Amino acid sequence: MAIISSKKQPPEPNGQPQQRRESAKTAPKENILQPEAAIDEQGKQEESIRPQKFADYIGQKDLKDVLEIAIKAAKSRGEVLDHLLLYGPPGLGKTTMAMILASEMGVNYKITSAPALERPRDIVGLLVNLKPGDILFIDEIHRLSRMTEEILYPAMEDYRLDITVGKGSSARIRSLPLSKFTLVGATTRVGALTSPLRDRFGLIQKLRFYEVDELSKIVMRSSNLLQTNVTDDGASEIARRSRGTPRIANRLLKRVRDYAEVKSCTEINQSVAAEALQLFQVDPCGLDWTDRRMLSVIIEQFNGGPVGLETIAAATGEDTQTIEEVYEPYLMQIGYLSRTPRGRTATKAAYKHMGFTPPNEQMSLL
Ligand code: ADE
Repeated sequence: MAIISSKKQPPEPNGQPQQRRESAKTAPKENILQPEAAIDEQGKQEESIRPQKFADYIGQKDLKDVLEIAIKAAKSRGEVLDHLLLYGPPGLGKTTMAMILASEMGVNYKITSAPALERPRDIVGLLVNLKPGDILFIDEIHRLSRMTEEILYPAMEDYRLDITVGKGSSARIRSLPLSKFTLVGATTRVGALTSPLRDRFGLIQKLRFYEVDELSKIVMRSSNLLQTNVTDDGASEIARRSRGTPRIANRLLKRVRDYAEVKSCTEINQSVAAEALQLFQVDPCGLDWTDRRMLSVIIEQFNGGPVGLETIAAATGEDTQTIEEVYEPYLMQIGYLSRTPRGRTATKAAYKHMGFTPPNEQMSLL
């Protein structure tokens, strides 16, 4: 199994806000709430808590229903699974789902990511080594190079590799047969896929943020595997602060477990979890410094918006892509932010969470 990491590097801060009430220095350096996997989270312990079959996978019911049907149908016809595109915010379990698919189908899988497939020979090497039924998982598939994409088209459609032999006017295309395989592509930006690539997936499925009760179950399951004593209310407290994201829930659980051990707590209950997470500056809704800074800029400097994405990026020191793909989806999900054609606006709920009176209620106080 080839696993190639391609964690994005944070860009340099791209500007200073006009009025800065909070200093960027107050932002924690290592972001415990980032949904991308940290390098040290790709090891053995992570694998030990990763669900291996559908029965252990909590949440994403609609997706599981669709995939279970597809698996049964493929198995009963003795065919390979259709190519599958999974999209949605990071940390929701796209890779886990691909691994479960392989185990449910009883096939092998190979995992890679688009930035690792820079040269044509990278993808060719993977394709020619696939066995019948294998699953090839390509993360960040929207980042494939043009050449790699073009090699994938006949491979996906006809299980055929077209290779150009020779140069100039004597160049010929030779076709090699490939084993029938399933490509599982994962992306946080489905709109960034080219349409020829998107059209070659038989199944296109979205992963959604998890509900708090689903995350609580995930925390309980992981705590059992890690042999840590967590109460129901302790699991809910961690779940509420996990931004709808299992990867974050499992990471917070580990930080709370450290805290409980150092403080000699016999169990992780609601107050232990809350104290520990406050220490890590994770607020009761799972907002971190950047979320709060975004909301405070919109509310305090722009009367609640609309504010352009670039302005928010400058005020927080984050790049526009991270704001669009990581911060905004969760703030919109919990109803704190709206995207309008003229820019971003803070909702009434955001005003209240940040300790401000919403504008329409300010009028009635006069
Ligand atoms: N760990 C991470 N994601 C999970 C999920 N969806 N179900 C169970 N455990 C998980």
